[in-house]
Amino acid sequence: MLYRKLGNTGEKVSILGFGCMRFPITNVNDGSKIDKKQTFELLNHSVENGINYFDTSFVYHNKVLFSKDGGTSETVLGEFFSQNYREDVLIADKLPVWNIKEEEDFNKYLNLQLKKLKTDYVDVFLIHSLNKVHWPKMYELNVLNFLDEIKSDGRAKYVGFSFHDDLSILYPIIKSYNWDIIQTQLNYLDESYQAGVEGLKYINSKNIGTVIMEPLKGGKLVNNVPLKVQDIFQKSEINRTFAWWAFKYLYNKTEVNTVLSGMSSLKELEENISIASKSRPNTLSSNEKEIIQEVKEIYESMRGIECGNCKYCMPCPYGVDIPKCFVWYNYLLMLSIDDKEEAKNHYLEFVEPKNRASNCTQCQKCIQLCPQDINIPHELETIKNTFESTT
Ligand SMILES: NC(=O)c1ccc[n+]([C@@H]2O[C@H](COP(=O)([O-])OP(=O)(O)OC[C@H]3O[C@@H](n4cnc5c(N)ncnc54)[C@H](OP(=O)(O)O)[C@@H]3O)[C@@H](O)[C@H]2O)c1
Repeated sequence: MLYRKLGNTGEKVSILGFGCMRFPITNVNDGSKIDKKQTFELLNHSVENGINYFDTSFVYHNKVLFSKDGGTSETVLGEFFSQNYREDVLIADKLPVWNIKEEEDFNKYLNLQLKKLKTDYVDVFLIHSLNKVHWPKMYELNVLNFLDEIKSDGRAKYVGFSFHDDLSILYPIIKSYNWDIIQTQLNYLDESYQAGVEGLKYINSKNIGTVIMEPLKGGKLVNNVPLKVQDIFQKSEINRTFAWWAFKYLYNKTEVNTVLSGMSSLKELEENISIASKSRPNTLSSNEKEIIQEVKEIYESMRGIECGNCKYCMPCPYGVDIPKCFVWYNYLLMLSIDDKEEAKNHYLEFVEPKNRASNCTQCQKCIQLCPQDINIPHELETIKNTFESTT
């Protein structure tokens, strides 16, 4: 494993971090049912191979939307690290902005989170998913005083935020406080999306730790890869996996400190560790950079719904499997028009009737949770009309 400095914290962080939003589950219809045995194996293997950054949140593996108890990611992670390795790793957790109604809630939720994590402190505490809506609300409730308080009483070593919006709000947020760490979305498709590369460079120039999320765009860059894209990757002198290209693009940047990936199998974990153990900055050849650029242009010509399969919108109270519906709709957008029937057949085969877009009641609850700002009910209506109409 290779390590880089985490901003000006003085910490050295493994360049691959573990995103605890996609642990293996035992019941496909209930994301809160984490397969503990398998997850413990993944966590154990991670630590033994040098991963020292673990990113969770109150909402990961939630049973219901806006749950007051939060999800089971924190609980399982806490159980694992209360038995082993606590001092060897950095645990990052996040403030559930959606649940915060008044100033007292900051302490209420953090104390509950520490209890779930079975620890007295988190290494990193981030305000979750800051954007133009959440930032003014948190600011008015004096979140910055709260961050000072938890650093001085030792409940958090470092503080920061995760970000899902554009540069016009990123800059003022950065200027408002002495942040330690910022988590942003980046992959070779998202160079100019949300904070993008420009935001990353700015954060790094302020000596703030940079944590990257969605390096594989939630799996989109490795699953159902269009043939046109596969052909371009074939041009490389060495046969590489899709994951290799995506991680290498990020590790090549000196401004990146650590890259989080959600890994739910040992095979993926081993591959990602292997890539991270050889990826020094500035080592991509000009030919490899050109290949990535070509791939990016192909994807851009067929961009669909920007879903990163983070499942913040899940579970839908009416049973719709929102990310799965989007997968097959995006698949359709990547195919030629003649193959429309193929995408429809996949949708009808792989999305059970109770999970299909037609179950959406337009209740709108999911909209405020989506970090990509997707108008989910509107898209579901389109998907219903595309795949489920009999005419
Ligand atoms: N703060 C926020 O607002 C926010 C938002 C999104 C994410 N995050 C954090 O950032 C972390 C990383 O984001 P992410 O989970 O979207 O990461 P990602 O690496 O872009 O996507 C993970 C997906 O890629 C697949 N994958 C991983 N390694 C693979 C490999 N070697 N080969 C093939 N497929 C592979 C996984 O598939 P399987 O499903 O088969 O395992 C998983 O579905 C999250 O886990 C979470 O901790 C934070």
